[in-house]
Amino acid sequence: MPPTFDPLPRAADRVVLRRLAPRDLVCFQRYRTDPDVARYQGWTPMSDHEAVAFLGAMGASPFCPPGEWFQIGIAEPQADVLIGDVGLRLSKTRHEAEIGFTLAPAFQGRGLATDAVRAALSLLFDTTPVARIVAVTDARNQPSIRLLERVGLQRVRTRNAMFHGGPCTEHVYAITRVR
Ligand SMILES: CC(C)(COP(=O)(O)OP(=O)(O)OC[C@H]1O[C@@H](n2cnc3c(N)ncnc32)[C@H](O)[C@@H]1OP(=O)(O)O)[C@@H](O)C(=O)NCCC(=O)NCCS
Repeated sequence: MPPTFDPLPRAADRVVLRRLAPRDLVCFQRYRTDPDVARYQGWTPMSDHEAVAFLGAMGASPFCPPGEWFQIGIAEPQADVLIGDVGLRLSKTRHEAEIGFTLAPAFQGRGLATDAVRAALSLLFDTTPVARIVAVTDARNQPSIRLLERVGLQRVRTRNAMFHGGPCTEHVYAITRVR
């Protein structure tokens, strides 16, 4: 059943943010099982069975349930093909949100993830009461750092962390609501 309040799909300049669906399985698995794509991500690749269940659950979930990751698709607008995804986690108090993003390698290097993340930031500011949106990135993840700075997030903290069983350095980026 489609959720009652649903601001998706949301058009960006050259991509569309839309709900994930089981029909995205092949495209989703192609990039999610790529070790280069997964290297700095908190998630681990899923089996096809798990991925179908995940895509269906995200497609049917309420928009941004507080305290949980909610994943949306980045689609190429003409053919509606999935080319990546954006994760949004609204805090339980709904005062802050965290964002994460992934783009399939074949579509990288053209500014499409930048379009998608800009649209996701506006979506959160327009449809939730968040005062601040944060993103956490591994300090070695230069494409992610460049993207975050391109869309206006600022580095607010650097911290040591454990990631995939090893020590790493993370940067925390943030952007504050201006209206
Ligand atoms: C992070 C990630 C989405 C960035 O992808 P990306 O393709 O570099 O980002 P964009 O699609 O916005 O493209 C930006 C690049 O295209 C170039 N570009 C070309 N045309 C452009 C345009 N019209 N507008 C903006 N950038 C454009 C930019 O110069 C930039 O290249 P640069 O970083 O070498 O300067 C991608 O590396 C990824 O999915 N990584 C794996 C998952 C991950 O680590 N996610 C981050 C976790 S926080």
